[in-house]
Amino acid sequence: TKLDMELAAIEKSGYDHFMLKEIFEQPHTIFDCLRGRLDAAAGTITMAGVQNNIEQLKNASRIIIVACGTSWHAGLVAEYVIEELCRIPVEVEYASEFRYRNPVIHKGDVIIAVSQSGETADTLVAIEKAKEQGATIFGVVNVVGSSIARISHAGAYTHAGPEIGVASTKAFTAQVVVLTMIALKIAHEKGSIDNKRFMHLLNELQEIPEKVPAALKDSEAIRKLAEKYKDAKDFLYLGRGYNFPIALEGALKLKEISYIHAEGYPAAEMKHGPIALVDETLPVVFVATKDSYHEKIVSNIQEIKARKGKVIAVITEGDEIISKMADDVIVVPAADELMAPLLSVIPLQLLAYYIGVAKGLDVDKPRNLAKSVTVE
Ligand code: G6P
Repeated sequence: TKLDMELAAIEKSGYDHFMLKEIFEQPHTIFDCLRGRLDAAAGTITMAGVQNNIEQLKNASRIIIVACGTSWHAGLVAEYVIEELCRIPVEVEYASEFRYRNPVIHKGDVIIAVSQSGETADTLVAIEKAKEQGATIFGVVNVVGSSIARISHAGAYTHAGPEIGVASTKAFTAQVVVLTMIALKIAHEKGSIDNKRFMHLLNELQEIPEKVPAALKDSEAIRKLAEKYKDAKDFLYLGRGYNFPIALEGALKLKEISYIHAEGYPAAEMKHGPIALVDETLPVVFVATKDSYHEKIVSNIQEIKARKGKVIAVITEGDEIISKMADDVIVVPAADELMAPLLSVIPLQLLAYYIGVAKGLDVDKPRNLAKSVTVE
C-alpha cells in the first residue's frame, strides 16, 4: 500500500535502498562499536567479556573461528590480525564443515563464533557441539539476546544496529573492529606486542571512523564504474595479506547483489589457475592498498595487464605507481595495514551495490538468499 511504501521510505532515511543506507552508516556504526571500549589517550580497551576470560584467551593453545558467509570473511581478517599480534595459532572454519567432521577439540581451545544474526543454524549447532567437548565459546554477535549470544560463555556485541539489507555490509566492518580490539587486548595482556606498537594501533583504530567518509566520497565515480563494467560475465578479485579476505568479500558481494560470477583469490595464487581466465573481457579488481605486500601486488597487476585484463584497483591515496598501471582506480585513505580492510572493503560494497542497481535488480532482497539461514 501507499502507507507501507511511505513507511519504508522513512526507514531508509532518504536512501534508495537499505543496503546503501547501511553502507553509508559505517562511520557511525564503527564509532559506536569503539565507543566506551577503546580509549587511545588512556591506552585502554574495556571489554568485560574479554577481561573476565583473559587467562583462557591469552593462554589459548589455539583459537578456532567458526562462521558462515560474510562473517567467515571477518574471521579470516581476524586470523591475520590475531596471529600477528597475539602469536596464537588461528583456524577459520566454515561452520557447516566443522560441525559434521568430528573436529579435534581440546580443553584449552577457544572458539570464537562470529554471526550477525546470532541465529545461523550451522554456526549455532557447531558451537553447541564444541561446547559439549569442553571448548570455551566466545560470541561476536550483532543481534542482542540471539541464540548464539545466549549459548556462548562470553562475548562482545558488534553494536552495528539492525541490518536489513540481505547482503551484509556494516555488520562486517563492526565484526572486524570487535575482533581487532579483542586481538589488541589479548596481545597487550599477554605481552606479545610492545607498548609502543599497542599505542600506535589504538590510535590507528580510533581514527578509522573519521577516515570512512573519505572511503565513501567517491560513490558517484564508483557508480560510473559500475555502468562501465555491469555487462561483464565474470570478475576476478585479488588481494594479499590483510586484503586477501577483502578480495573474497568483494567477490561475494558482487555475486549476491548482481548475479555476476565472481571469484576471490589470493593474488599470488592466481598463477596456479585463474590466470587462465584472463583476457580483454575480464575485469580484475585488485585490493592493493599500501602495505608490506605492495611491491608484490604491483607485479601481480603487471601479470594481468600483460594478458590484457582490465584492472580496477583499490589503492591508498597518493599511490602513483598503481595509478599509472590500472585502468581504473578507487582511492581510500592511508591507514596501518592491520586496519586497511575496514577501508578497502567499502568501495567494493559500493561497486556491488551500483552494479546491482544498474542491472535493475532487487539489491535489498537478492533472489534465493535469506538474511538469516536458520535451516541447514
Ligand atoms: C546469510 C546472509 C549473509 C551472512 C550469512 C551468515 O547467508 O545472507 O549475509 O553473511 O548468512 O549470517 P550470520 O547472521 O551468521 O552472520
